[in-house]
Amino acid sequence: MQQQWIQERIALGRSFITKLADDTPSAEGYETDQEQRKPQPPLSKPPMTKQVIPLPQAFGNLGRGEDFLDIVNRRKSHRVYTDESISLEALSFLLWCTQGVKEIRGRAYATIRTVPSGGARHPFECYLAIRKVEGLAPGLYHYLPLQHGLEYIGQPDDLEDFINESLCGQSWAKKAGVVFYYSCVFYRAEWRYGIWAHAPILMDSGHVTENLYLAATALGLGGCAVAAVEPHLIDEALGLDGKEETVFYAMPVGTVRPEDQPQEQAFYAFVQQQGL
Ligand SMILES: Cc1cc2nc3c(=O)[nH]c(=O)nc-3n(C[C@H](O)[C@H](O)[C@H](O)COP(=O)(O)O)c2cc1C
Repeated sequence: MQQQWIQERIALGRSFITKLADDTPSAEGYETDQEQRKPQPPLSKPPMTKQVIPLPQAFGNLGRGEDFLDIVNRRKSHRVYTDESISLEALSFLLWCTQGVKEIRGRAYATIRTVPSGGARHPFECYLAIRKVEGLAPGLYHYLPLQHGLEYIGQPDDLEDFINESLCGQSWAKKAGVVFYYSCVFYRAEWRYGIWAHAPILMDSGHVTENLYLAATALGLGGCAVAAVEPHLIDEALGLDGKEETVFYAMPVGTVRPEDQPQEQAFYAFVQQQGL
């Protein structure tokens, strides 16, 4: 592989992070679509179907960890799950903690959610591959944050195969009760931030998955952030065009138990094998 090409790609990646400083001189006179008073895109994607499945909003019966420091200290990536189902209340809690809408600012200018987002743009949609959640048929779903509900999208031929392939063959994920897939609706952020929208999108996605880690830990569940996704395969299954909206991040979540810790360690066996 050509050294020059590699160096160019590295420089491109770095400039993505340092974009504000790099782009400012040449961006003089540039106005974002918001500054040009172009119409604002919807705060969240409208339902794709006619049937909304309401999610429970009372979390009082969930045994939640109450000690915040304990939850933070216990957070870790889990890739070994039992085959136990996740309750609907627990799934609802995870969705609320990661994308729940607490307030609408202005007439319909912004959603204020349980996670922060640059300019309160919240450019993400959350889709689920549900394998084992009480009260829900297995299949693909879309979270509707404005209603705090779900809509059913469909069922891949083989759900476990789909999960495995969608996460680049990370077969441990096949036993998760649910896989969260996050897409980005780019224009929701670009409307406000234009050429500067893209690095903050990635910053925002970290808030969402960290809350998912912490919320899962609080309930005694476990998950693992996954960047190795196959966007084309997931987009096609979900009916996304892959340009205006594409899936870029995922997190399988399942029930976990302490006695599976040794199996978890196997995922880091290479550290010992290679004497790292
Ligand atoms: C952005 C991001 C992408 C990740 N992608 C993967 C992945 O594709 N597969 C995987 O097994 N773990 C993945 N992880 C989990 C990391 O390997 C894990 O967070 C790291 O080893 C530290 O372990 P801990 O989360 O238990 O503290 C990812 C984590 C993050 C934050």
